[in-house]
Amino acid sequence: MALDNIRLEVMNTVEKSVQGFIEKYLIPVEEIWQPTDLLPNLQNESGFDEVHQIREEAKELGYDFWVVLVADMVTEEALPTYESWLMDMEGVEQHGKSKGEHNAWAKWVRHWTGEENRHGDTLNKYLYLSGRVDMKEVEKTTQHLINDGFDIGTGRDPYRNFVYTSFQELATNISHKRVGQLAKKKGNKMLGKMCNIIAGDEMRHYMAYREFVKTIFEHDPSEMMLAFQDMMKKKIVMPAQFIRESGQGIAEAFENFSNAAQRLGVYTTYDYIDILRKLNDYWEIDKMRSLTDDAEKARDYLMALPDRMHRIADRIAVPQDQHKFKWVEANGMV
Ligand SMILES: [Fe+2]
Ligand SMILES: [Fe+2]
Repeated sequence: MALDNIRLEVMNTVEKSVQGFIEKYLIPVEEIWQPTDLLPNLQNESGFDEVHQIREEAKELGYDFWVVLVADMVTEEALPTYESWLMDMEGVEQHGKSKGEHNAWAKWVRHWTGEENRHGDTLNKYLYLSGRVDMKEVEKTTQHLINDGFDIGTGRDPYRNFVYTSFQELATNISHKRVGQLAKKKGNKMLGKMCNIIAGDEMRHYMAYREFVKTIFEHDPSEMMLAFQDMMKKKIVMPAQFIRESGQGIAEAFENFSNAAQRLGVYTTYDYIDILRKLNDYWEIDKMRSLTDDAEKARDYLMALPDRMHRIADRIAVPQDQHKFKWVEANGMV
């Protein structure tokens, strides 16, 4: 049997558990929060007082903070890219085999997308109400990012994709959580709560994707190990890797955004290393036996990688100069 067919076979086997994963890790529409729960309700007159409060509190937040919040929001808003990418994975069948029969993986992708869609929606409305950012510039960036797509180095391989999503969901959990903490510290209660609740969704998603990988490890350990190694060798790129401002070339805004996030301590190289350690632990990489020779080497590589990366990270300084973005006005550039 060809290798690819084994992957497909594994995906079809695991598919039988996916309905259970949906029930365990996602929340039904009727029960889950909606953006309106966290934002001023403008059907009431008192909603306008809350808008006023948002605008007042927003004055306390610094330049890097707005840059990071904008880029986080834009990353969430590029959701069409992620849904179409995941829907294209091997083993995910968008079209039911017969009428009424739907592939559970496709259902997962749709339901996950439904949850994710609320994140960009919430942050977009908040940013609009805050009055602190040039929304048209932000909107152009979002449209560019969707146009530019991304390439995360996974191809259509579900093993590589699930390593990527496990990693990325935890990364977004960390960054939303930290942005929320910074907001709260400056007295922005509403924004603090918003970010915290979004971070909670990302945690559930992380737990689901790492479970997919763990299950695949039970069926196809050597190939799963090699896929994990391959992703870590390439490095996990951010979903907003191609972000740009209007008038810029592809990806030109990414480094400056990433530096701002590092300066604020919202997401740093040390977080990246920490995520890798957590995944190594959860998948019990050190305990994996009966691997092919290549997969054994991959296991050893993965076990040694966090320490190695730590040594390199200690030698790299984060640039301190703030870039002036079109998204955020420069007055109050602190
Ligand atoms: Fe999200
Ligand atoms: Fe998520």
